[in-house]
Amino acid sequence: MSTDTSPTQSFPAPFRTLGIVGTGAMGRGIAQIAAQAGLTVYLHDVRDGAVAEAQDFIAALWSRGVQKQRLSETDAERYRASLKEAASLDDLATCDIVVEAIIETLEAKQSLFTQLEEILGEQAVLATNTSSLSVTAIASACRRPERVIGFHFFNPVPLMKIVEVIPGLRTTDEVTERVEALGQAMGHFTARTTDTPGFLVNHAGRAFGTEALRILGESVTDHVTVDRILVDQGGFRMGPFSLLDLTGLDVSHAVMESIYHQYYEEPRFRPSPLTRQRLTAGLLGRKSGAGFYRYVDGKPQVVDEPPLPRAQPCPVWIGAEDDDARQTLSRLVEAAGWPLEDGATPSTEALCLISPLGEDATACALRLSLPPERSVAVDLLAGLERRRSLMTTPVTRDSMRNAAMALFGHDGTPVSAFSDSNGFVLQRVVACIVNVGSEIAQQGVAAPETIDRAVELGLGYPRGPLAMGDHYGSRRILTILDNMLAATGDPRYRASPWLRRRATLGLPLTTP
Ligand SMILES: NC(=O)c1ccc[n+]([C@@H]2O[C@H](COP(=O)([O-])OP(=O)(O)OC[C@H]3O[C@@H](n4cnc5c(N)ncnc54)[C@H](O)[C@@H]3O)[C@@H](O)[C@H]2O)c1
Repeated sequence: MSTDTSPTQSFPAPFRTLGIVGTGAMGRGIAQIAAQAGLTVYLHDVRDGAVAEAQDFIAALWSRGVQKQRLSETDAERYRASLKEAASLDDLATCDIVVEAIIETLEAKQSLFTQLEEILGEQAVLATNTSSLSVTAIASACRRPERVIGFHFFNPVPLMKIVEVIPGLRTTDEVTERVEALGQAMGHFTARTTDTPGFLVNHAGRAFGTEALRILGESVTDHVTVDRILVDQGGFRMGPFSLLDLTGLDVSHAVMESIYHQYYEEPRFRPSPLTRQRLTAGLLGRKSGAGFYRYVDGKPQVVDEPPLPRAQPCPVWIGAEDDDARQTLSRLVEAAGWPLEDGATPSTEALCLISPLGEDATACALRLSLPPERSVAVDLLAGLERRRSLMTTPVTRDSMRNAAMALFGHDGTPVSAFSDSNGFVLQRVVACIVNVGSEIAQQGVAAPETIDRAVELGLGYPRGPLAMGDHYGSRRILTILDNMLAATGDPRYRASPWLRRRATLGLPLTTP
């Protein structure tokens, strides 16, 4: 595993001695960057030998850093010397702060913190790395809940340069500020969030997978096409189904259900019966050799895209509803050398191109009084650069669909064509991401700029949700959601007031 072993201390850490309880995947990562920030680190684990394993693991990373000349031998030696074993909890007595990364149950974490309160000094801070439990609930078992805080890192800790700092309802500002300063001294962006289900990053990540699963559940297209569209058109590093496979459905389905229920069945987070079923079948993803993709030697098996159909040029009539869309489509038709009709209505031969937002091809064609048999919808949300998405009505003729595919692929750009859907794949997923991000801002979970930065770092999206809305145009995102809500009646698509107000006033979505 590659890692970042560079000294991260940019200013003195506000704590000198840090304890880690639980030296698994997370605990060892936190220990590593704490040592690199100049802290003395005590490690404790219930399992015999676990601390030694963690020390060896971290020391090996530092040795590799020295070999690759990213780290001096002197620094590596100093770091190694700062990692100490705490054979029992009593050995943590001198710590200014203890971070727990043990099993994810409320009882275990409460029991650990109540024991630690008896051992540590009055001023010591108790931090939890929980990703799904309430910090306030963990603190409620403690005598000094004001000294308990969430300090939520992401895996792998040294590479994921973000930590959520989550004060419980009774945590003091002084504790919050010192823990924020610690996170920064460890080289991480600190995202202060309220103690709400999923905190910030896992909450903001709810739309990507759940909307992709809905698209699959409506038989709009297959998982490979959804992934290709979101990578090529959306600029995401990985498609939602590749990501579900990487995380494993045992983890991701549980997170989907947990956040959905913790928000009292909020429809925007509704999980999918598809993943429950696949989980039951053992199709977890990479770790089980098969998920949405099948894996051979760790590589997903993906069939090449079929060649585009060949078709003779036919007259094309553009039913775009704004000038930009009309010009974009006209330029493409002219570049392909196909005849472009300029009459007020299409001839009886013409392929009719439409570019709906959040509407299906059928509704859009009928609203514009166009023949659904000859109508093909094109997604213009992200332009026509890296991939082109087409959508047909249930009665679009094969000849017209093939003509549209040949036209849009004339210059070698890949084309995906799928069945009628209230909104194209990219529109649906992006609109849901922007909407969930807007609602996070509306609920005051974090400041707008924190939301965007945390999502870029924590989820690796090309932009944070608010910046994404501004990039595509918040009015267009609002239109997509309003049309999806009108067509489906599903409250999942109701627009956040944060989004509606700013889009209507023409303000950036990052406006506080
Ligand atoms: N793995 C992730 O991606 C991730 C990300 C963020 C947060 N978290 C959270 O971090 C915590 C740890 O997760 P992990 O993935 O490192 O788990 P892990 O299973 O890799 O490690 C947990 C370690 O804690 C030890 N342990 C369990 N109960 C203990 C106790 N009562 N006292 C002392 N040690 C105990 C275990 O022996 C084990 O070494 C969990 O709360 C988890 O939800 C995990």
